[in-house]
Amino acid sequence: VKDKELIRGSWESLGKNKVPHGVIMFSRLFELDPALLSLFHYSTNCDSKQDCLSSPEFLDHVTKVMLVIDAAVNHLDDLHSLEDFLLNLGRKHQAVGVSTQSFTVVGESLLYMLQCSLGQAYTAPLRQAWLNMYSIVVGVMSRGWAK
Ligand code: HEM
Repeated sequence: VKDKELIRGSWESLGKNKVPHGVIMFSRLFELDPALLSLFHYSTNCDSKQDCLSSPEFLDHVTKVMLVIDAAVNHLDDLHSLEDFLLNLGRKHQAVGVSTQSFTVVGESLLYMLQCSLGQAYTAPLRQAWLNMYSIVVGVMSRGWAK
């Protein structure tokens, strides 16, 4: 099976429930690097990680991230069509103080979420397929970041 089929097949159900899966991903992210919480200017409105993750602003960002992943999955055949959007997205994250290394931690969190959600279907080739796609997305964002 090719990368694209593995990604599309696994996203089919996950993509229908973006918010809960995105919350699993971001809980993991803030566990791996709690300092990232403070980069969200609205994080001062909540006392705990759990509290933050259920706030509307955070859920909004979680949704935005999941929509970017959704766009990448839907454009696997022409990822370059997202280039301008992703360059700009990288630049915006540079502006809010997110480092490019943090994008790597998001990648680990994405894999963690896939593992939790897919169970037996989470295989080494599937993991690699997602890692390849995510690396392309983050590669373009990082180029935009450095511009
Ligand atoms: C916007 C933080 C990773 C997608 C933002 C904003 C912050 C932020 C503070 C501006 C406020 C907001 O819109 O909520 C972070 C942090 C990340 C991270 C700390 C972890 C390293 C990502 C990733 C993606 C993403 C990996 C997508 C693949 C977006 C989008 C926006 C956004 C689409 C809206 C940009 C716009 O306003 O045009 N992010 N982000 N973020 N983020 Fe992230």
